[in-house]
Amino acid sequence: MKKPYLIAIDGPAGSGKGTVAKLLSKKLNLNYLDSGAIYRLIALSAMEKKVDLDDEKDLVYLIRQVNINFIDGQSFLNNVDVSQKIRHEVVGVNASIIAKHLKLRKEILTFQRKFFQGNGLVAEGRDMTTVVFPNADLKIYLDASVKERAKRRYKQLITKGKDVSIHSLTEDITARDRLDRERIHSPLSIASDAFVLNSDGLSIDQTVYKILKLITK
Ligand code: DC
Repeated sequence: MKKPYLIAIDGPAGSGKGTVAKLLSKKLNLNYLDSGAIYRLIALSAMEKKVDLDDEKDLVYLIRQVNINFIDGQSFLNNVDVSQKIRHEVVGVNASIIAKHLKLRKEILTFQRKFFQGNGLVAEGRDMTTVVFPNADLKIYLDASVKERAKRRYKQLITKGKDVSIHSLTEDITARDRLDRERIHSPLSIASDAFVLNSDGLSIDQTVYKILKLITK
């Protein structure tokens, strides 16, 4: 594996790319970028400050004021650890809503690219393979069916004692897919040079193994 090495992973919500990317970065001793967390942090800040999610100008102004940090896998907004808060469903939906603004996306481009240093990086999100790191050494589009993703999310939430239905989770996932795939700027799409991996029926370890095999090829 050449150094520095850059792995870019895109895929829809719940495809497992977060867990897979994190594990890969540990195994390969590379940095890790959860780009979705950046959008979630901005969305959370907008919610707290009651900024209109459709107002691109105000959101850009907000980004320039906030301080976003990742330390030891935790997410900080203005030096407050909000790692749990940004995982709430409503923050995810709002992150997807603000992600449609081109000027906002441009504001965070340089910030995201700075994570590529040292030995390299595993970056995951929606436009890692297409816009942020178009020259990545390895590009993966990690997919999974809506049914499988809803099932995984259901298991996660039930374990946490949450009362949810598969039906409503399926609807939420379908709605978010639509937002992420149909927006004009940097929509979720499959890069022409990406390997498409469907994780239906695969464990996290099996998925990681498949990617490691692609690296050694
Ligand atoms: O990966 P995630 O579910 O935490 O991301 C939350 C939202 O952020 C996602 O629905 C769309 C947006 N996002 C984006 O537009 N581009 C990225 N690279 C990552 C996330």
